[in-house]
Amino acid sequence: MKNIRPITDVSRPKVYIETYGCQMNVNDSEVILSLLEDDGYALTENIGEASLILANTCSIRDNAEQRIWGRIEQFRLQKERRPGVVVGIVGCMAERLKEKLLDSHVVDVVAGPDSYRSLPELVRSAAPGAPQMNVELSREETYADITPVRMDKNGVTAFISIMRGCNNVCSYCVVPYTRGVERSREPGTIVREAAELFANGYREVNLLGQNVDSYLWKDPVSADRDVNFAQLLEMVAKISPDLRVRFSTSHPKDISDEVIYTMAMYDNICKHIHLPVQSGSNAMLAKMRRKYTREWYLGRVEKIRSVMPDCGLSTDIIAGFCGETQEDHLDTLSLMEEVKFDSAFMFQYSERPGTLAARKYPDDVPPDVKTARLNEIIALQNRLSRESNEKEIGKVFRVLVEGVSKRNDSELFGRTGSNKVCVFPAGGHRPGDYVEVKVLSCTSATLVSGLV
Ligand code: 5AD
Ligand code: SF4
Repeated sequence: MKNIRPITDVSRPKVYIETYGCQMNVNDSEVILSLLEDDGYALTENIGEASLILANTCSIRDNAEQRIWGRIEQFRLQKERRPGVVVGIVGCMAERLKEKLLDSHVVDVVAGPDSYRSLPELVRSAAPGAPQMNVELSREETYADITPVRMDKNGVTAFISIMRGCNNVCSYCVVPYTRGVERSREPGTIVREAAELFANGYREVNLLGQNVDSYLWKDPVSADRDVNFAQLLEMVAKISPDLRVRFSTSHPKDISDEVIYTMAMYDNICKHIHLPVQSGSNAMLAKMRRKYTREWYLGRVEKIRSVMPDCGLSTDIIAGFCGETQEDHLDTLSLMEEVKFDSAFMFQYSERPGTLAARKYPDDVPPDVKTARLNEIIALQNRLSRESNEKEIGKVFRVLVEGVSKRNDSELFGRTGSNKVCVFPAGGHRPGDYVEVKVLSCTSATLVSGLV
């Protein structure tokens, strides 16, 4: 298992990798590193010594892409200083923009999310004036046989991709175009990867998919042996009671009672669900093609909380989608108040070329209105997060130690099962230990705790 970073070998060419976007991209970079190591590369954190510079990119909002264009200009400076350097743009932006990335005359290699196996060959063939590109999407590729090289440094928590692509066509979203159709990874390879991580000292795995609730492995021999997401969760949870299991992202239209009951059955399945609502207005949800209503969403939340009263809930919210009225916006605020999310990722709507919304609906909420609505949403969530944390004061939690606190190196940090970050005195504990902590005070982001 290649989860330990190789000792730097002076004779090997060096690759420098920057990763943008979602957790899936972080895991993809680990797959890319595995493939490149097999081809003789060693990872470097120093861009100045890299012969290969890669940016694994995100297209979800325009500002994510603008950041990458800025980075490409920085890479130009590296190439001016060291002309042999190869620059590769991979991931979602590579898939979306394809040869347009070559107009910069900086980029030598363009590879989409399903073509990483060909990356070593693309890099070898790239030459000045002869850039290389592979943006073919696949119906089968899951990189199931590739052991990602873990780039995180804590050695405690790891991502495992269980599926790729997405079959939902939310009207605002570019992902189905950049990551292709949904396909599930063979469950045996997922369980093996999780078990190997556990044997190597990891204590938490995060199962990743664009929509984990639609995970379905169709057994080639018998339909009786098909595996759905609830069954996969159980298989991973059974590896060891000391291996925590998390997952992301759940879709409100698909999260099943079976998944909720399976979570409740296993102590080591973390009681936290990331359940993006996007909007509290039925008119907006319909236009977004989310395929559920506000009432359905609230019903799912009620079910989750009736089975697991302390389950953490987080969400994603978009402010200022096409045609959003003040009333629609107030519906979002009232839904947030009603659910009382523990945390949220909140965004202004950003039109993405080629999506259904870009084709059908004008992006007509003025920028200042979008910003004002987003600010109200953020202010409300800050209050809800703080209130949610205040309720934890005095309670005792079992926390998995992930590392040393950034603010104070005599303190450690870790997470509760419900995904709240705790900081507490080190007291001789180390990353990978489970410790009991009591919450003493809080901010909207952190539970300040003491050892029990
Ligand atoms: N504009 C703004 N936010 C978006 N998201 C996805 N597409 C867009 C877009 N075009 C948000 C959604 C999604 C999260 C990953 O990003 O909230 O859940
Ligand atoms: Fe991830 Fe979506 Fe961004 Fe692609 S576009 S990196 S899938 S968040």
